[in-house]
Amino acid sequence: MKTSSTKYHGNGSSHGESSSSTTKTHRRRDSHEKSNYEEVGVIGNGAYGTVYKGRDLKNDGKFVAIKKIRIQNTEEGMPMSAIRETSLLKQLEKFEHPNIVRLLDVLHNQLTETEIRLLLVFEYIDQDLATYLERCSSPGLGPDRIRDLMLQLLNGVDFLHAHRIVHRDLKPQNILITSQGRLKLADFGLARIYSFHMQLTSVVVTLWYRAPEVLLQGQYATPVDLWSCGCILAELYNRRPLLCGQSDVEQLRKIFELIGLPSEEEWPENVSLPRESFRSRPPQPLEKYVPEIDPIGKDLLEKLLCFNPHRRISAREALNHRYFRDDIDSFRTSSSLSTSETDSFDTDGRSDTPVSK
Ligand SMILES: Nc1ncnc2c1ncn2[C@@H]1O[C@H](COP(=O)(O)OP(=O)(O)O)[C@@H](O)[C@H]1O
Ligand SMILES: [Mg+2]
Repeated sequence: MKTSSTKYHGNGSSHGESSSSTTKTHRRRDSHEKSNYEEVGVIGNGAYGTVYKGRDLKNDGKFVAIKKIRIQNTEEGMPMSAIRETSLLKQLEKFEHPNIVRLLDVLHNQLTETEIRLLLVFEYIDQDLATYLERCSSPGLGPDRIRDLMLQLLNGVDFLHAHRIVHRDLKPQNILITSQGRLKLADFGLARIYSFHMQLTSVVVTLWYRAPEVLLQGQYATPVDLWSCGCILAELYNRRPLLCGQSDVEQLRKIFELIGLPSEEEWPENVSLPRESFRSRPPQPLEKYVPEIDPIGKDLLEKLLCFNPHRRISAREALNHRYFRDDIDSFRTSSSLSTSETDSFDTDGRSDTPVSK
């Protein structure tokens, strides 16, 4: 991790980056209230920008995670539309869902006439699920811990889906685990900014959690996230990813090795590859791939790893699966579940009807 510190100052209307590399602070554009953050290191470089560890100077230097994204103007519109995109995230924030990472602040700098820099300030969380699993010593997570993590994961996903947000990239690196064991979803809600305003850098995007309909470049909606949840459930038991393909075709091949080649009737229309591209094969017993799973967990896993997105279990249905039945009553009365999660608000045209890639 980089150790030099950077502060942000100036305000949202300034043109160009701050001249000083050692003292950059940033002030909220839409209010006079100062909210300064100091950068203390790099957490990670992603496909769309960089995430820094920082301190909130107005809040006792509390750690924050600052995601910086540069957004180019496009023919479709000004970068302002990207700023409007973030209003959805701010609206979601009002629910303070326990399984969603807190978004503390949104700042933007006009860099040039056609480029803005967006800074999203999140609560800092010590580790993501990938690190958590790496650090977890043998013999791995107990069944109760796995069940608790899955309950929190599905609870967060159900909340997003109730608000018509498809995560689209659920994977251990985008799931954060607090030191108290609370699971929080991160890295969602910016998909439209990404697709409209940015060019992907050459960072490799993992395919291992992708639903078959995404790999086949068909239409997709909320069920894609449940496929990812299935891959993650298996990984919680195995402490290694379930299906590791290096290309779309190889990933699909590995999927069909596990769940069997779908029938002609199930094969979707207008997709990138015909069914004949794959060898016919029967489904394998899931316990061959996930030896430690119990029969009830296996039943849930089967319903998550269902080829047909229309028949795949939903987050709400999964939460009611008997895999969680033993402690669901105590869970529902605990603070882990938001009571207002089905409330809806204007989501700027988002819907859980199919969206194309
Ligand atoms: N709030 C946070 N606190 C601590 N680390 C975080 C936080 N958000 C993200 N990270 C870490 O930074 C990485 C990249 O962040 P992410 O939001 O997923 O951006 P990207 O678009 O680059 O994938 C994550 O995989 C995670 O390890
Ligand atoms: Mg990410």
